[in-house]
Amino acid sequence: MEFKNVILEKEGKLAILTINRPKALNALNAETINDIDMAVDNIAKDKGIEAVIVTGSGNKSFVAGADIKEMKDMSVMDGREWAIYANGVFRKIETLNKPVIAAVNGFALGGGCEISMACDIRIASKNAKFGQPEVGLGITPGFGGTQRLARHVGMGRAKELIYTAKIVGAEEAYRIGLVNKVVEQEELMDEAKKLANSIMKNAPVAVRLCKQAINRGMQVDIDTAVNLEAELFGECFSTEDQTEGMTAFMEKRKEKNFKNR
Ligand code: CAA
Repeated sequence: MEFKNVILEKEGKLAILTINRPKALNALNAETINDIDMAVDNIAKDKGIEAVIVTGSGNKSFVAGADIKEMKDMSVMDGREWAIYANGVFRKIETLNKPVIAAVNGFALGGGCEISMACDIRIASKNAKFGQPEVGLGITPGFGGTQRLARHVGMGRAKELIYTAKIVGAEEAYRIGLVNKVVEQEELMDEAKKLANSIMKNAPVAVRLCKQAINRGMQVDIDTAVNLEAELFGECFSTEDQTEGMTAFMEKRKEKNFKNR
């Protein structure tokens, strides 16, 4: 598959999606969002892929936001359509049928912070910087920032970050719960792969259903949420992987042969 601004690599059961537009610090123009959209569709359909890492090329920037040059002269209608389009693509990442880890290797600003927040788990290198600087540009965050930041770090912290356009370093992002782990830049991809492997050793169907249960359950009341959990829990008992997981336990066998079905 040919892309202009992303690189899609597959290493066994792992897909690595690198946003690659170095001349603009990997900023998201329409062409890049379109590439991400196609790459995510490709990953979704690939039954051999069980986890995904999203990262940025180079060692300075993950994604420096939506492309400001492309947005400068947008009309009201253009702005709305641009946000709807990109939000649709980010929502595809958020609801992708496999776990997605953001390996944040530098600036994650505006649309960059937003795409990282659509991923399941964020690991950051020490030089990573997070923020929603949009109000300084006279706009609101438009790719989910006003919604997901509050869900990740709570409303008070999200409002402070968004209203002040403050940019925070990796350690502060860790302290407020925006990232799961901070590592040396040279170790970032290894750490992300290690995390992906520790997920992929488990039953992929169960991991997929956990993602659904958490994502959907967080948006509804607790009674609906636990009912949803019960439904998905029940579904597991139709899978070969449940039989294998429990048989391995009974046989005191460490090696499990999960089939993703
Ligand atoms: N859009 C377009 N181009 C961008 C860009 C962006 N978001 N971020 C960086 N670039 C370009 C720069 O224009 C520059 O290109 P030229 O050499 O052609 O001028 C190149 O990338 C390198 O950037 P800098 O020279 O600025 O690099 P720096 O190290 O001095 O600064 C930075 C790095 C602090 C990240 C700075 O580039 C910056 O502030 N970028 C913008 C960050 C931002 O405001 N992001 C939010 C965008 S709005 C958004 O995302 C809305 C939304 O929610 C959808």
